[in-house]
Amino acid sequence: MFGTIRKKPVILEASSTDHGSIAELHSLSFPRGWSKSEFANLALQNNVTLLVARSVGNPDGPILGFNIVRQAEDEAEILSIAVDPKARGRGLGESLMREAIFRLRADRIEKLILEVDGSNKAAIKLYNNLGFLTVGNRPGYYRNEGPVDTADRSTALVMRLDLV
Ligand SMILES: CC(C)(COP(=O)(O)OP(=O)(O)OC[C@H]1O[C@@H](n2cnc3c(N)ncnc32)[C@H](O)[C@@H]1OP(=O)(O)O)[C@@H](O)C(=O)NCCC(=O)NCCS
Repeated sequence: MFGTIRKKPVILEASSTDHGSIAELHSLSFPRGWSKSEFANLALQNNVTLLVARSVGNPDGPILGFNIVRQAEDEAEILSIAVDPKARGRGLGESLMREAIFRLRADRIEKLILEVDGSNKAAIKLYNNLGFLTVGNRPGYYRNEGPVDTADRSTALVMRLDLV
């Protein structure tokens, strides 16, 4: 009768104690997981922002998603974003992206770039909803399961959001 009510999550910068949980989440979402120390090293870079999502009702609880963004001059790039498989489809991915975009605009960054597997319907929907446009593609970029040859690779789309 009232439809689904989506509670906004809490989105904050990750602390150093979060890197292990972020690495676990990453490995649940991608074929090659990044280690805790890879996240720690990235987060040390002063042009990198690592955001995490937690439940609004349990702000000290588990990390439900992360978004890692790198700035270079007037441009920024999403290095990786993922939401806990159990928490997908509740708007967390969108909240993580909107918070990153808000911060980038405040830093006067002019465009945001990302690469996404052309078969990743959920991510492409999320980015399209936010206004990203596909500006290029790289055939054979991602390796799927099975033998490593071009036929088993899918196309990466390059997407861009103009922030000004
Ligand atoms: C992509 C990802 C981060 C989205 O996170 P999420 O919290 O589930 O996203 P949201 O709930 O904010 O949904 C965003 C939109 O995508 C849509 N969506 C979600 N899952 C979908 C699916 N399987 N197929 C099509 N659309 C889907 C939602 O309906 C929503 O659109 P709407 O508001 O118009 O209905 C999440 O699916 C994920 O972690 N995937 C694995 C890692 C990954 O692929 N990262 C992106 C790499 S580029």
